Amino acid sequence: MKPILVIGSLNMDFVVQTDKLPLPGETVKGRDFRTIPGGKGANQAVAAARLGGRVRMAGRVGQDEFGRTLTEALSSAGVDAGQVRPTAGVATGVALILVEREGQNQITIAAGANDLLEAADLEPAFQDFGQGIVLLQLESPLQTVEAAARLARRQEATTILDPAPAAALPPTLLRNLDFLTPNETEALLLLGEPPGEIRLDDAPALGRRLLELGPDTVILKLGDKGAWVVNRRLSRHFPAYPVKAADTTAAGDTFNGALAACLAEGGTLPQAIDFANAAAALSVTRAGAQASIPSRRRVDRFLSEQRA
Ligand code: RIB
Repeated sequence: MKPILVIGSLNMDFVVQTDKLPLPGETVKGRDFRTIPGGKGANQAVAAARLGGRVRMAGRVGQDEFGRTLTEALSSAGVDAGQVRPTAGVATGVALILVEREGQNQITIAAGANDLLEAADLEPAFQDFGQGIVLLQLESPLQTVEAAARLARRQEATTILDPAPAAALPPTLLRNLDFLTPNETEALLLLGEPPGEIRLDDAPALGRRLLELGPDTVILKLGDKGAWVVNRRLSRHFPAYPVKAADTTAAGDTFNGALAACLAEGGTLPQAIDFANAAAALSVTRAGAQASIPSRRRVDRFLSEQRA
């Protein structure tokens, strides 16, 4: 089995449920405040490990209680957190998350220690890693993400970039990627299009335009419309598994972690996307980021029920 390396963020999520997300300047009443381990990098690491991967994570936390809790959460999910560096003089990253009844959310992050992850942190992380799978996101400094993609390509590892939070990206980074996995907002921003929804009919053409930016394969994550995959050999829709959404937080992270876990085992791309769709669907049925990520047994059982 190939190893998986996640380079990215760890946040403590401050989560409040609400009936209605506030408009700018509006105050709304919420309920059920919880702190839950999160951060797009850590969520992807936990997902990949819970779903059977051999996972190492590199990141930064502060020397504080949240940093210790987040590192322990990784270890108890089976992730090697030896390259998560507690850093003096800076707070651990946090995310303020409002979750609406339908499962939609709003997230604001204060990056804290995540902003100090630097290219020098990558060498020990890549030590003895070989040609595994590298998971990247955009809650770390862009220069660090670019350096990680360059290092990964040099040693013929497979790179999967989740371009979240949405940002315009340099061609030098996009050309070093094996997989680019944007959601609708991220895809439209990368293409310089106004924000909106992507209709399934438009997905193949948008996927091809994203492919022209440089990655080998584009996986458009379309929420309850599933995923559309485009590369030189394939343009194909993978429908989502219908579930009742309670909280969509970390569904995209679960998808990427699951994708990596299945590819690391030698799964084909269609198998990996189907597995990732199932894991992401299960994650939206439960509240929270890492709290919602399903186990391998649960995903396998769900898939065999769906196929019965
Ligand atoms: O993708 C979900 C994650 O985004 C949350 O866990 C939060 O920490 C933010 O990073």
